[in-house]
Amino acid sequence: MEYKIAVLAGDGIGPEIVEQAIKVMKAVGKKFKHEFHFTEALVGATAIDQVGDPFPEETFQLCMDSDAVLFGSIGDPKYDNDPKAKVRPEQGLLAMRQKLGLYANIRPVTTFPSLLHKSPLRTDLVEGADFVVVRELTGGIYFGERGRSEDLNKAFDTMVYTRPEVERILDLAFDYANKRNKRLTVVDKANVLASSRLWREVAQEMEPKHKHIEVDYMFVDNAAMQIIQWPKKFDVMVTGNMFGDILSDEASVITGSLGLLPSASVGVHTSVFEPIHGSYPQAAGKDIANPLATVLSAAMLLEIALDLSGEAEAVREVVDRSMSEGVVTEDIAEGKAYRTSEVGDWLAENL
Ligand code: IPM
Ligand code: MG
Repeated sequence: MEYKIAVLAGDGIGPEIVEQAIKVMKAVGKKFKHEFHFTEALVGATAIDQVGDPFPEETFQLCMDSDAVLFGSIGDPKYDNDPKAKVRPEQGLLAMRQKLGLYANIRPVTTFPSLLHKSPLRTDLVEGADFVVVRELTGGIYFGERGRSEDLNKAFDTMVYTRPEVERILDLAFDYANKRNKRLTVVDKANVLASSRLWREVAQEMEPKHKHIEVDYMFVDNAAMQIIQWPKKFDVMVTGNMFGDILSDEASVITGSLGLLPSASVGVHTSVFEPIHGSYPQAAGKDIANPLATVLSAAMLLEIALDLSGEAEAVREVVDRSMSEGVVTEDIAEGKAYRTSEVGDWLAENL
């Protein structure tokens, strides 16, 4: 088969890690007789610098015309401490989510035995933890009405959810739980927020249709605590945009494998696959960044967007092998550290 892949490498280490994932996908193509056509486009700070827009129309069109999007990372320190900047790289990300209708962000949280000692938690707490955070991505406080009073002394952001928005993300989360261990935790702040009470109402209405799934409800503050205290209890966690932003970062770091965790954003149009770590500007261009999260994002792309699960499994296997044989970058190397490009070459050769 032939597939069109849009490549949005973005800022910082984005280009070099995405390059390795492409090498691996090309090796997949060779082995399984697929043809992947990769087309690059601008996003993030790089896009602002070159064309003044963090998610140019041309990039959007390319995404719409592709079977999947492979994304690197965005963000540049020159914008972080400048609250007055008129255009920001992050706006590109939000525009992409909104225009592609990417209403669900899926972040699997898995542990890798060889990295457990890097976890900030005790090994016995985190060993075997395996859950998925499903975050609503195109609604809530990120996209509600916001503003500033005329005298500039008051500012507000609004958390808004509609029933259809809540239903479609819960539908997806129930499906995910069904494919996994049949447990779903709905995380909200229903003791305070009206929008959370809508979430809870809708989830409770949907429960009878999913009798075989065990549903529980948890306030977000309690969930933040339990992720640390008892991460193994979770299977699928579903929550709104802002709570999901915070909890998914918290969840990713307890495994000790930040450089290894992939994510998928899916919705109405083309799906986007990207590592969960950021643009790591300090390492940009040095050929030292860990490409494995991006390679594993390519595996999610193969499985979710192209329905090629055997191919995805082959990628995961070769990643496991690179770790057990110590062909890894300096962030996780015990002995000799390999360069970003060397890890990519090794994965492509050994797939
Ligand atoms: C993420 C990021 C973004 C978000 C930022 C960069 C706008 O933190 O993808 O989780 O808050 O959604
Ligand atoms: Mg975040």
